[in-house]
Amino acid sequence: MRKYLKIAAVLLAMAMTLSLAACNTDNVTTSTGTGTGTGQKIGISMPTKSLQRWNQDGENMKRAFEEAGYVVDLQFGGENEVPMQISQIENMIAGGCEVLVIAAIDGDAMTEVLAEAKEKGIPVIAYDRLIMGTDAVTYYATFDNWRVGEMQGQFLVEKLDLDNAEGPFNIEFFTGDPGDNNINFFFDGAMSVLQPYLDSGKLVSLSGQTEKSVVATPGWSTEAAQARMENLITSNDYAPDKTPLHAVMCSNDSTAQGATNALVNAGFNFRDFPIITGQDCDVISVINMLAGTQAMSVFKDTRTLANKVVEMVDAIMKGSEPPINDTTTYDNGTGVIPSFLCEPVIGTVDNIQELLIDTGYYTEAELGM
Ligand code: BGC
Repeated sequence: MRKYLKIAAVLLAMAMTLSLAACNTDNVTTSTGTGTGTGQKIGISMPTKSLQRWNQDGENMKRAFEEAGYVVDLQFGGENEVPMQISQIENMIAGGCEVLVIAAIDGDAMTEVLAEAKEKGIPVIAYDRLIMGTDAVTYYATFDNWRVGEMQGQFLVEKLDLDNAEGPFNIEFFTGDPGDNNINFFFDGAMSVLQPYLDSGKLVSLSGQTEKSVVATPGWSTEAAQARMENLITSNDYAPDKTPLHAVMCSNDSTAQGATNALVNAGFNFRDFPIITGQDCDVISVINMLAGTQAMSVFKDTRTLANKVVEMVDAIMKGSEPPINDTTTYDNGTGVIPSFLCEPVIGTVDNIQELLIDTGYYTEAELGM
């Protein structure tokens, strides 16, 4: 059974790579709304087509905005290419978009282009990732990012039974791109739970790599995470019959997949696999959960976030108050940005059915079930 799941995982990964590669030839989708709205044009700028989640976010928003009667200009920044994203936003401004919804590749690189938006009175919604250092950001819509990190930390505390078991347990850490403000919440949120156990010696990082800047992964790249995990395996002699590795705290699924690949290649199998955390419930990671390698992911239903952003834009257009539930947490350096935080949920092999299949997020066939 596990063998078939593994084969299914590989085939699916190949199919996804192919379909994502096919998508990469087309970073732009412009379409006309068919709903009952007023046909105003909304610019949606997503960071990349190379990760599953941004394709889903983009498509979910496009659908929701069109259903609400808007015209959508949806663009993807190639393979996380900052200049491409900036020029796409410039085109959206020049092309008459009345609101911009942006998931920035580099949250610090938007100051100039958003000054143009501000000058033209175009509201900007930072989507999922906060855009830093500019007063042009009107609202922020995201998930509770600190909570995501806390959930990953708490999961490890429970699974390793850190409050009762003797230990020590070996752990390594992976977080995401240094230009993504979210890592300050994901990683620090996880560390707020795990640091006491590192301090007491119950958790040990043999590599000594526990600083956010050291465990960051450029572009959230699976390949970069895999290469770093390979180095960690070699330099610390991690192997099922040598030095055990009990846990790998990964801030998201793309990094978890890199760590998983390296561990599988090094001979770890589901019986001695470290407890690996993740985030997004990407198809590949869910398949890994079913196969018994990745232990958990944090599910952030992109449909919920997309609908919330449509509500925000609707309110802006009507001159009413958009939904906001946090006015203290997210300061982008120019002041706190009023935010709406959606609730993340833990995903494990035990609730995949209710969470992902019954809600129509994936079909069983997509997950090789
Ligand atoms: C998002 C995560 C995602 C990561 C890599 C983060 O900003 O919040 O959901 O896994 O970017 O794309």
